[in-house]
Amino acid sequence: MAMALQPREVFAEPSEEAAAGRVSTLVKEVIWEAVRRHGACYLALAGGTTPHRLYLRLAADAITGDVPWQNVVVFFGDERDVPQDHVESNYRKAQRTLLDHVPINLANVHPMPADADDLQAAAKAYEQRIRSIVPADAQGTPRFDLVLLGMGIEGHTASLFPNTEALREESRLVLSYFVPVLGRNRMTITYPLINAARCVVLFVTGRDKARPVANLLGDDTKARRKLPASGVAPTDGRLIIVLDAPAARASGLKPQ
Ligand code: 6PG
Repeated sequence: MAMALQPREVFAEPSEEAAAGRVSTLVKEVIWEAVRRHGACYLALAGGTTPHRLYLRLAADAITGDVPWQNVVVFFGDERDVPQDHVESNYRKAQRTLLDHVPINLANVHPMPADADDLQAAAKAYEQRIRSIVPADAQGTPRFDLVLLGMGIEGHTASLFPNTEALREESRLVLSYFVPVLGRNRMTITYPLINAARCVVLFVTGRDKARPVANLLGDDTKARRKLPASGVAPTDGRLIIVLDAPAARASGLKPQ
């Protein structure tokens, strides 16, 4: 897990909507940059509830046709052990708020098979699919153009939870494992894949996240290291943290 403070850009926005607007602008910029660079944009979507407004906004903006969605390839950062049409499914959330409303080629949308009978095999297969589709960096690691992440109140990100083996994974890019604190299985991308990305956006809103955000941005190394989100440190990429005012409150950051 990263010790030294990772160079990062931090935005504190006055409201959840303004924060979603900031991330939406960043997503569009990264998509255009990637399409200009290599004809496509490879991105991993976040789960949970925070991206909801962002996905709705990107879908609404698609009407203006200012994003080359036909060149976008979508994977997922993590998934719950439920079918794709289940209300808890991160895929279903993204599908209903974004993917069904933009001109994306459905062959370029890759849900995580997190409800498979053989979860280990499914995680390996998803890793193989990422390796076969997403161009690799000089070390041979697939390099997403953008990884979108959220953070839980105990600092988990994607499905990298505190005090789990998943945090120590150094070679596998996708894991499926039992999360004791949830009593459920989760499938997740790992630090080696996250930190190979060109750009990682950590999008966090809400007053219940104020303390973990303060610890993540603070100088207390011990407190920061307890947060799996502190392990997000792109090796050769941007880390952008976007907050709303309630989430930034305990960090002393003044909304722009
Ligand atoms: C998930 C997520 C997870 C999420 C955080 C924050 O499947 O739950 O991918 O990492 O980003 O739990 O969740 P909220 O956005 O709902 O607060």
